[in-house]
Amino acid sequence: MSTTRRPVALITGGTRGIGLGIARVLASRGWDLALGGMRPAPEVEGAVGELRDSGADVFYVAGDIAKAADRSALVDATEAHFGRLNALVNNAGRAPRVRADLLEATEESFEDVLRTNLNGPYFLTQRVAPRLVRQRRAAPGEPVGIVFVTSVSATMVSPNRGEYCVSKAGLAMAASLFAVRLAADGVPVFDVRPGVIATDMTATVKEAYDQRIADGLIPSGRWGTPEDVGKMVAALLAGDVPYATGSVIHVDGGLAVPRL
Ligand SMILES: NC(=O)c1ccc[n+]([C@@H]2O[C@H](COP(=O)([O-])OP(=O)(O)OC[C@H]3O[C@@H](n4cnc5c(N)ncnc54)[C@H](OP(=O)(O)O)[C@@H]3O)[C@@H](O)[C@H]2O)c1
Repeated sequence: MSTTRRPVALITGGTRGIGLGIARVLASRGWDLALGGMRPAPEVEGAVGELRDSGADVFYVAGDIAKAADRSALVDATEAHFGRLNALVNNAGRAPRVRADLLEATEESFEDVLRTNLNGPYFLTQRVAPRLVRQRRAAPGEPVGIVFVTSVSATMVSPNRGEYCVSKAGLAMAASLFAVRLAADGVPVFDVRPGVIATDMTATVKEAYDQRIADGLIPSGRWGTPEDVGKMVAALLAGDVPYATGSVIHVDGGLAVPRL
């Protein structure tokens, strides 16, 4: 990295699962980190401590991404702590509380999932983007960028969690929108689509996916890891994939490739 000052990334949901995988790789490559999440600070001390031990300045803010006041608090606290911000990783997201058939799932679940998975990152990005534009102007040599962690579910259909699929399809459009809006300002935006990644989110369906992977669901023949996604996000935010804003990048072992 060519800068002398460590760049700062804000990662929502950064203390476990894919978000922690992203945090680990970024910290190891010279980034400082602002991490968001729902759990109170004492519950994430382990993850935060581990990242600090790797040399990063790590700052945690608890809050609900679905709430406007919490999004504001997250951004303001990050700015107050670091005085700068180079990148936003919209990672926080959730599955429906129950997997229900498309014909039976409730409107309440739909709204619940969309508030977290779509409204939250959409409006957080709206709030952060002007700061990144200012950062780009003030320090053109430093990395900047935005990553949306969407999903293969942006296009692949699961009729037992329709609200999740709709939220990720909407988030993919949000990534495209912000990519076009911010391109001339020099802030690249990427849509990173994980496949089946081993985290708490997928722990409840582990056995079913073990079987489906053994049966050939994923061409690469294995679960993905948070580190797989972390390495991709770190490459994108380092500027190693230039002239590519708006790109969709799958980290899915070939899962989304249509097959005959
Ligand atoms: N795992 C997969 O196979 C997979 C595949 C494709 C896409 N994804 C996407 O990748 C992202 C991360 O998933 P994961 O598997 O790492 O899930 P995870 O292990 O359940 O972690 C989710 C993270 O998001 C945070 N979060 C959830 N709701 C939040 C809210 N309302 N406000 C603030 N933070 C919130 C959680 O905070 P706490 O830690 O405080 O609870 C947690 O840190 C999600 O957007 C998910 O949809 C996952």
